[in-house]
Amino acid sequence: MTDREIKDMEYGAGVQLSPIATQLKESSIRTIANFGMTQPDVTPLWFGESDIPTPEFIRQAASDSLSQGDTRYTPNNGAPALRRALADYQRRLYHTPFDENNIVVTVSGTNAIMLAAQTCVSAGDKVVVITPVFPTLFAVPELLGAKVVQHPLIQVDNRFELDLDALFSQAKDAKAIIINSPANPTGWCASQQEVEAICQFARTHHVWVIADEVYARHTYESESAPSFCQFMKESDPIIVCNSFSKAWSMTGWRLGWLTLPKSITPTITKLIEYNVSCAPGFVQAGGLAAVTQGESFIEQSRERYTQARALVLKWLSDIPGTTLYDMPATFYAFLKIEGLGDNSQPYILQMIEKAKVGVAPGEAFGQGGEGHLRICYGCDLKRLNQALSQLRAYLIAHPCRNNEDESAILK
Ligand SMILES: Cc1ncc(COP(=O)(O)O)c(C=O)c1O
Repeated sequence: MTDREIKDMEYGAGVQLSPIATQLKESSIRTIANFGMTQPDVTPLWFGESDIPTPEFIRQAASDSLSQGDTRYTPNNGAPALRRALADYQRRLYHTPFDENNIVVTVSGTNAIMLAAQTCVSAGDKVVVITPVFPTLFAVPELLGAKVVQHPLIQVDNRFELDLDALFSQAKDAKAIIINSPANPTGWCASQQEVEAICQFARTHHVWVIADEVYARHTYESESAPSFCQFMKESDPIIVCNSFSKAWSMTGWRLGWLTLPKSITPTITKLIEYNVSCAPGFVQAGGLAAVTQGESFIEQSRERYTQARALVLKWLSDIPGTTLYDMPATFYAFLKIEGLGDNSQPYILQMIEKAKVGVAPGEAFGQGGEGHLRICYGCDLKRLNQALSQLRAYLIAHPCRNNEDESAILK
């Protein structure tokens, strides 16, 4: 290949990159993290990840499976034993009649979202996404060529609320609604009545619902959050996405699952074949251990997150010029900063250098996220306590209130 040809490849002249792919926005969380990782002594609260390692019994199960040679292709839909275990797990939590034929194993929650969207969304379709939300949930339908309409939650005092009437009127002519509850980054959690009403709407208006429930077990007042699995019927146009990443601290394992009407399993099976073929067998063995023996781990994690949440309240609930939202679920605190505007990057980069704490910019999460910071509190308590005290001191010393001017923020 000549230099000219290599250059053409690099810059896309002569070869055409997909315009949808090139127009996708880079994640500003990554930009912040990439900078933060170059700085010494920074406590990283930017990613949605706990620092609790995957429990030993899960690692052991995967390691045993690997030693026994479970290194070959597996069924597209997942190992039957894991699908059965997931069906049992959901029956216990949600009293759903769904069985293993309603379950499909995926390679992560992210892959579950992609498969769900590929199943029901086509180019040109209108998709309503409730925001602020994990960016993948609007990037995936955009990648499929859909017209994404964001539906921001309403801010009432220090709470987020969903305006169901407004959602339904916006979604009447939509192909799908995408909802994440409990929500990243706000910690908002749909009530049982809201989940039931959205199910009813989907049923009567023939609108798909893709429900992301990866934080279903990150609740503080109950064993799990209200779930679409509780209300879904076999013929409903509803697909629930879940993951092992958060409940069992398995982010690096890349394992998730979908709960869906049996009738669409053959379609999803084809999509899995052409996306990833199957999830690795030894990873699924780890998942099987998690879902069958992992309840006490979830309980212990909940205790730690409860203490972590109390630290967030102690340090961040009364800073002038800021609002800390209610945190009924997840391990995120969402903090409104008056005057921050929709480009929080310079402020956060400065905070990383000076306060040695890194957070995620609210605008990364779509409409309604601007002017906010997301803080993941899934961090060791001693380290978190220190980081939050530094963050508090920084926020008090560097208010943005009358400060829309970036250069002034940076002074
Ligand atoms: C709401 C939400 N959905 C899905 C995911 C992706 O999960 P996974 O690690 O299984 O891909 C995340 C990860 O942070 C998330 O916050």
